[in-house]
Amino acid sequence: MRTILVSGGAGYIGSHTVRLLLEEGYRPVILDSLVTGHLSSALPEVPFFKGDIADGLLVRNIVQDLGIDAVIHFAARSLVGESMQKPDLYFHENTAKTNLFISALLSAGVKRVIFSSTAAAYGIPEQVPIPEAAATIPVNPYGASKRMIEQSFPWLEKAYGLEWISLRYFNAAGALFDGSLGEHHTPETHLIPLILRTALGRQEQISIFGTDYPTPDGTCIRDYIHVLDLAKAHILALAALEKGVGSGVFNVGTGSGHSVREVIETSRKITGRNIPVLECPRRPGDPAQLVAEADKIRTTFNWSPGYSSLDQIIESAWAWHRKNPDGFPH
Ligand code: UFG
Repeated sequence: MRTILVSGGAGYIGSHTVRLLLEEGYRPVILDSLVTGHLSSALPEVPFFKGDIADGLLVRNIVQDLGIDAVIHFAARSLVGESMQKPDLYFHENTAKTNLFISALLSAGVKRVIFSSTAAAYGIPEQVPIPEAAATIPVNPYGASKRMIEQSFPWLEKAYGLEWISLRYFNAAGALFDGSLGEHHTPETHLIPLILRTALGRQEQISIFGTDYPTPDGTCIRDYIHVLDLAKAHILALAALEKGVGSGVFNVGTGSGHSVREVIETSRKITGRNIPVLECPRRPGDPAQLVAEADKIRTTFNWSPGYSSLDQIIESAWAWHRKNPDGFPH
């Protein structure tokens, strides 16, 4: 049985991936600082280390004591707006600490890493759907902090034989369908959780940031990908490294997008609730459209999304929000 260290395993995408790793016969081990993650009761009972990815001694001890075969590295700050206010925090937490983490892993003999990257690495895309080979000119420090790590990988590969796969997520969304595990950020800035909070009456209305974009209904288009499909992409990426498929960058998205108005309309249909909207000016830094060209991951990993229709995403997220209207207890 292969033992996989999951940094950030108590976070939104990490926790869903830990569950899937167990289901697929891996032995996950979590390293999480719990700064933004949550020790939810829905998180499976697996070895858990509360600590920092930059703690080299801790990382080397975990690798040696538990016999880590590969790492899935989620731990990071991920709020675009916060990154604009505090770029140094993002370069420290996401870039500097990841570099220390990977050095410790390499020195302890771990050579396989799956990395959480982001569509924010592309910045304002020149073409949509966006292929992996598109220019990467991030327009916020969050995207830049992740892109810098991607840029370090080929050098680490050459020098130390690092085998790496970087997964550029588009808009992660959705939850377990029984509502036991889902998305909880503080502060929450993401569209779908905020719409569902509005449906629950936790906030008065949902703001639509920009109605004058060059899109059919004037609102931004995003490629929403169910967190379970995202989790599956990590399992397939691990298997690909084991098979020697080779290192590289992969988009994880469905290849089609939905506008803000469409997401609100679908949420009204699924929740049966009135969801008042307030039309607002554009939010700085939002590209009109972010949609993945997803051919590479489909053909290389034989991956395809199974839960990423907008209905399934909203249904599962609604199950989570109804059960946990205030999110996780802490
Ligand atoms: N939006 C609103 N109202 C809100 C919140 C969001 O209209 O109250 C709009 C945004 O303007 C955007 C869309 O809904 O057009 C989606 O916004 P999110 O904040 O949910 O997601 P983003 O597309 O801004 O960002 C997400 C992740 C980032 C990642 C990026 C990559 O949060 O971490 O996708 O595509 F970098």
